Parts: sequence; C-alpha cells; structure tokens
Amino acid sequence: MKVDDIKKVAVIGAGTMGSQIAEILARVGSYETHMVDVSDELVSNGLKAIDERLERYFVSKGTLTAEEKKATLDRIKCSTSIEEAVKDVDFVIEVVVENLGVKKDVFKKLDASAPQHAILVSNTSGLNITEMGAVTSRPDKVVGMHFFYPVAIMSLVEVVRGAHTSDEVVQFACELSRHLGKEPVVCKDVSYGFLANRVYGRMTGEAVQMVWERVASPEDIDKAVKLGYNLPIGPLELADIIGAWGLTAWAEEDRIRELGPDKGRLHPLVRAMIRAGYRGGKGKKGIYDFWNDVLSKW
Ligand SMILES: NC(=O)c1ccc[n+]([C@@H]2O[C@H](COP(=O)([O-])OP(=O)(O)OC[C@H]3O[C@@H](n4cnc5c(N)ncnc54)[C@H](O)[C@@H]3O)[C@@H](O)[C@H]2O)c1
Repeated sequence: MKVDDIKKVAVIGAGTMGSQIAEILARVGSYETHMVDVSDELVSNGLKAIDERLERYFVSKGTLTAEEKKATLDRIKCSTSIEEAVKDVDFVIEVVVENLGVKKDVFKKLDASAPQHAILVSNTSGLNITEMGAVTSRPDKVVGMHFFYPVAIMSLVEVVRGAHTSDEVVQFACELSRHLGKEPVVCKDVSYGFLANRVYGRMTGEAVQMVWERVASPEDIDKAVKLGYNLPIGPLELADIIGAWGLTAWAEEDRIRELGPDKGRLHPLVRAMIRAGYRGGKGKKGIYDFWNDVLSKW
C-alpha cells in the first residue's frame, strides 16, 4: 500500500500520545481518523485536549484558521469500539498503555476486525514488535512507529521492524512519517529503547551513578553535559521533567527481561527516590529535589 492510498485511519488509545497522534493524522494527513478509548469520558477528554492544543498552538498563532480547526476536529470520529472503528481502515496505530499483554489483546482485536490490507502499527516506546505481530495473521504488516512527545513539535519517528515486517511496510511507515512532516529512522526491535532512548538512557544511567557517588550535584552534572556537548538540556533535568524515574520503575520487569538482571534492575538511587515519592513529572519532585532534600544530608 502507498501513503496516497490511505483514506481512513484509526488510533487506539486517546491518552497523552494517542490524542496527539490522532491530531496530526487529521490535521496534517487530512485523514478521516477514528479515535478509540475504553470509555466515552476518556475518548472525549482526548478530543477536548486536541481542541485546546489546536487553539493554543495553531489558531492563536495564525498558522491554522478557525475553519481549518473545525475541519480537523470534524475528521476525528470518537468511539469505544475497536471493532467498529477499524472495520474499513487502511492504517491503525495502537497507543494504549505500555504493557505487552494489553497490547497483544489489542492486536488480536485489530487483526480480527481490520481489513486484510490494513497495516497495524504500535507506538510502543520499547516493547517487542515481533511479539505483537505473532498474535496476528499478518506479522508482515505489523511495524512500530515511535513518535516523540510532544508530537506536533518533535520531528523524529523511529520506524521499528519486527522479524517478519516486510520491506514494503517499513517503506510505507517511512513515507507516512515524511508525509506527516517527520524524519524517520529505521531500527530493529531487538534494541530495547530502540535508538534515541537507548543512548539517552545510558547517559542518564551514568549521571545517576555519579549522583549516587556524590561526585557532583545534579545541577553541575547537567551543566557539564550541556556546556561540554552543546546540548539544550541535561539528562537529569530532562528525566525530572518527563517523569522518567517513575516510568523506569514501571518498566523494571520489561527491562530485566530485555537487558538481564544486572542492567535491567532499578538503580538503588532511583529505587530510593521512588520509595520516597520522588518520581519526577511536570511540577513534581525528582532527582534535583531528592539531592537537596535527602541525598546531600545522608
Ligand atoms: N508519554 C510519552 O511521552 C510517550 C512517548 C512515546 C511513546 N509513548 C508510548 O505511547 C503509548 C501510550 O502512552 P501514553 O503516555 O499516551 O499513555 P496514557 O496512559 O496517557 O494513554 C493510554 C490510553 O490508552 C487507553 N487504553 C488502555 N487500554 C485500552 C484498550 N484496550 N483499548 C483502547 N484504549 C485503551 C487508556 O485508557 C489511556 O487513555 C505507550 O506505549 C507509551 O510507551 C509514550
């Protein structure tokens, strides 16, 4: 299938990423976009978030007219039924919680209800595409497209190929990324964290170990990396903002399975932070606060 052949698409999950991916498919791709979540409330919250973002980041800045905003919203159809939403789509992207069991259940439903030609995509941050493809009758048409937050701004899409993903489908995912204004990179699903998160994770892990050894404060470690390598933000600041400590704790089981018990287990500092309630996230306490409140006095 070619990108020009796409008419209807579906997005499963209307949370943080799902609502942003539905938005870009409807706004930039101009596709009829079916957005699904488990309750009417959750799916309408997703639509409300899209409405607010379109107003704040596009209409108020003059890059989208009120008519274009209305047309974008009109293209998004809300549903709580996967079966109904995907029955005549060409492309569907799964954006549900990062849990392999939940994702496999969704892929089984997608395979049973979507037309045979439809390409089935996951926005997983690190789970295995081959395992998702294995519960379908079309593993050649299952591929990862890992969008980054916030979707409207970040230009990267990691196109992740499973063991059975066809070249044609990888090509399609790259073309669709470009069509949506993104830059694709291709990688295999045997790399936990794929490309960007794997490299950044290593850097963050080293920075955490340095804090644990009291080599320097989180602020000075970030400052060294920013000034030394001309990066806009340090790994520890970034992890605090995005709530990476809580996310890493949530993924410990996946990390141990994929990386082994040594590399996969939570760093003792991160475990101590989680236990003390320093999980990070917008406006919440993270490693900077843990250093000031606890670690520098221990
Ligand atoms: N948040 C990020 O920065 C980010 C970035 C890149 C990739 N991701 C990946 O995107 C995916 C979603 O993350 P998120 O942050 O949007 O999570 P989220 O919790 O904000 O949203 C997930 C949504 O999926 C819904 N859902 C769960 N099971 C469902 C089902 N069976 N059918 C329909 N909907 C269902 C939930 O109700 C929820 O609204 C994860 O795989 C995550 O790893 C997240």
